[in-house]
Amino acid sequence: MTRELVQRMGNESAPVIIGSGILASISQHIRRANGGKIPAKILIVLDEAVASTWGSLIAQSLKSESAVGVEIAQISILSTESKKSAESWAKIMDAAVRADLDRQGMIIAVGGGIVTDIAGFCAATYLRGIAWVAVPTTLLGMVDAAIGGKTGMNLPLGKNLLGENRLGENRLDENQWGKNLAGAFWPPSAVISDTQVLTSLPPRIFRAGLAECFKHSMLVDASIEPLLACALATYSSSEPVDQWKMIDLVTRSAAVKLDIVAADPREANQRMLLNLGHTFAHAIESQFSSELLHGEAVALGLVAAATASAASGRMTVTDASSIRDRIAALGFSVVLPHSATVENLEKAAGFDKKRVGGSMTLILPKTGGGADIVRQADPELLRVGLRSIGAVDAS
Ligand SMILES: NC(=O)c1ccc[n+]([C@@H]2O[C@H](COP(=O)([O-])OP(=O)(O)OC[C@H]3O[C@@H](n4cnc5c(N)ncnc54)[C@H](O)[C@@H]3O)[C@@H](O)[C@H]2O)c1
Repeated sequence: MTRELVQRMGNESAPVIIGSGILASISQHIRRANGGKIPAKILIVLDEAVASTWGSLIAQSLKSESAVGVEIAQISILSTESKKSAESWAKIMDAAVRADLDRQGMIIAVGGGIVTDIAGFCAATYLRGIAWVAVPTTLLGMVDAAIGGKTGMNLPLGKNLLGENRLGENRLDENQWGKNLAGAFWPPSAVISDTQVLTSLPPRIFRAGLAECFKHSMLVDASIEPLLACALATYSSSEPVDQWKMIDLVTRSAAVKLDIVAADPREANQRMLLNLGHTFAHAIESQFSSELLHGEAVALGLVAAATASAASGRMTVTDASSIRDRIAALGFSVVLPHSATVENLEKAAGFDKKRVGGSMTLILPKTGGGADIVRQADPELLRVGLRSIGAVDAS
């Protein structure tokens, strides 16, 4: 059971292989990604949560193929946003040095978006860039984080830039990280998505990935949405997961991102569409990082974006409210976990690295599908969206 897409970024292209049960023979995909031979030195960067399961399957496949002279080192990291840090970056770089990785060496990143982001960033920066392969183990990773070539890590929130945190307070909370403030465009040589790994995901984390699929459905391919409820239902029942349906969901959703990225690899224009809901989500995450997963913040962001869009006349009020209902039907909360002020969230959104020349760019969805990139958006639209998910005006 395998489907294949292509990631095109400028002159470079890489296979995106989606299948079920394909990790046991991953070495053949690595070989292909590496010009026909297994690299002599490999560092596998693992999410601790999958190290002893999917990680060892991968290591076994590589070892069985590579009796002659292939050295495989491993390092595991804990997947939390505070570990997507310079400290983890340094540990992985250190492991690469100890493994004696040279320019022909390869990093294989096995995990969710946290691991593929930081391991990819290590690949981008070690010896000024070596090859890497992404093996996403979350739904969000398969349809979003591991594709599109963006790698990166968090920096303590603007402390180094501003001397204070995003809310203007001179304190740095453990949860407050400037998300992805350091990074590089450094596409992997292959993305290998095995939908079987999703069976070990906690249900809440699986669901969080559906938010990005929903976004792709809103943007380009409405045929994705009916697959979401179905995936959630089979996933949360005791029935075996229909792997063909999961492969279909991942393939269609990844294809949306791949097409947009191919048209605009460096996010000069069209790629910004993928930020639908994300200006809101990043503001929300700055305040609720300990309560909400990234995908859950995106779900809230999509609801807020739809309401803002209705206020701007791009979407009917009925359609905006239908989006809210359909997102709620997938089990997402459509209100913030507890009170927050519009002002604080607005400040956080203003710091968003997607700002251009100090003004806010909002991605606003349209009735009938697709979205507009609205530069110099009226800040009132942001406020309307934030109020619709429960933010309140300071008295
Ligand atoms: N580079 C990009 O273009 C891009 C796009 C979207 C998101 N991201 C980044 O992705 C990150 C979020 O990624 P995520 O949602 O995959 O979260 P994650 O990497 O934090 O993983 C979520 C949790 O699931 C666990 N886990 C992962 N795979 C598992 C499996 N198969 N079985 C059991 N447990 C498993 C992890 O240990 C972690 O606790 C954020 O840091 C975000 O900034 C990057």
